[in-house]
Amino acid sequence: MTALPHSVLVVGGGGREHALVRAIAGSPSRPRVICAPGNAGIAAEATCFPVPADDLPGIVALALREKADFVVVGPDLPLALGMVDALAAAGIPAYGPKADGARLEASKIFTKNLLLKYGIPTAAAAVFDDADAAAAWLRGRSAPVVVKADGLAAGKGVVVAATIAEAEAAVRSLLALAPLSPALGGRPNVLIEECLTGPEASVFVVVSGRDWVLLPTAQDHKRIGDGDTGPNTGGMGACSPAPAVPPALLLRIEESIVRPSVEAIAAEGIDFRGTLFIGLMLTPGGPKVLEFNTRFGDPETQAVLPRLLSDTLALLWAAARGTLAGFRVEVAPEPSICVVVAARGYPGPFAKGERIVLPASGDLPPSTTLVHAGTARAASGQLVSAGGRLLGVVALAPTPAEAADRAYAVCKRIDFAGKYYRGDIGGPRKPAGGRPA
Ligand code: AMP
Ligand code: GLY
Repeated sequence: MTALPHSVLVVGGGGREHALVRAIAGSPSRPRVICAPGNAGIAAEATCFPVPADDLPGIVALALREKADFVVVGPDLPLALGMVDALAAAGIPAYGPKADGARLEASKIFTKNLLLKYGIPTAAAAVFDDADAAAAWLRGRSAPVVVKADGLAAGKGVVVAATIAEAEAAVRSLLALAPLSPALGGRPNVLIEECLTGPEASVFVVVSGRDWVLLPTAQDHKRIGDGDTGPNTGGMGACSPAPAVPPALLLRIEESIVRPSVEAIAAEGIDFRGTLFIGLMLTPGGPKVLEFNTRFGDPETQAVLPRLLSDTLALLWAAARGTLAGFRVEVAPEPSICVVVAARGYPGPFAKGERIVLPASGDLPPSTTLVHAGTARAASGQLVSAGGRLLGVVALAPTPAEAADRAYAVCKRIDFAGKYYRGDIGGPRKPAGGRPA
């Protein structure tokens, strides 16, 4: 293996990036870690620079100025905009796919066509760029159906429609969605998919061309309310391993989905070096692909990375440099959980700038940590809320139930007037911290 980088820039400012900063800083090679833009929690552990994550020239200039010899890009938007291409043009190695690979997340139609071309199990789908044509097609069908916007939509691009009228309305509103960035513009399209049923699970594959390494599985909890009720969010909690994926099923997923997907991407001429995050539905007919993301999941990463005994920096560096073949990832046997603490009202409107007081880090249960997401420091130095998802409480323990006990004990002790968290991450057991607004 080539020598590990000395100075690493992590791009992003959410809980995922806090988890990445910690895991990278924990490398035995003791790298210097910096972050842009970061958050209040990251700033306590790494120097943060106020450069937005999707400012390509700003991030390249920062990396050059700070002599970063490796950049790890967290979020989807900069990847889709070509941040890794821009860094490569400046001679800076980075973890994450170039824009051609990021299309696997940025265009659901691109991915659907690839899955169908290579016979990888997924829901049947039809593509429309015109609401009237979609409506005419829908009239011959029965509900439920799933309507998806083609492009990145910050979690707002998928509607599971219980009736055909609802599906028609979803087509019209999704066709009218503005792109997340003007640079991603282009003609809007929607996909109408067969509605699958079954538990969901995510697998994270670190890919480097035709080589790949599977990370521990995780289960996200996307809905705001206990028992998976209410609107979708960015993710209200995660546990690892995914309870719905026993080892025999994981082997089947590797053979029927992971291997053919990595091979299909390479066969299309894409030199993918980054995370292929495969969203799956475990249907009665076997596992099927719901979506590809081309970055680590949030909050799954917060639950997965603390279980890695291997050097995370060495893993990401090997993927970026094309030396991943033979890399073995050692995983702690202890399960983990991440409970997200959000601002009341999220994913709708919520207040910002409210005071948060955290338990001291020396006063947490064993193997339990706090990860920051939407937090900031007021001029007074007071920790305040600055987003919808504020914090993650991450715990490892000998059993999932003990991990949940540890995490929930800390959730209760977070002093924040507008606190909301689900009470059933990792299984139904605790009363929730509040009701969704
Ligand atoms: P996606 O962003 O494509 O993963 O979709 C977001 C969520 O919508 C998924 O986590 C599923 O809960 C749901 N979903 C997406 N596609 C389907 C489908 N074909 N059938 C049923 N539910 C789906
Ligand atoms: N937790 C889902 C995501 O990161 O997209």
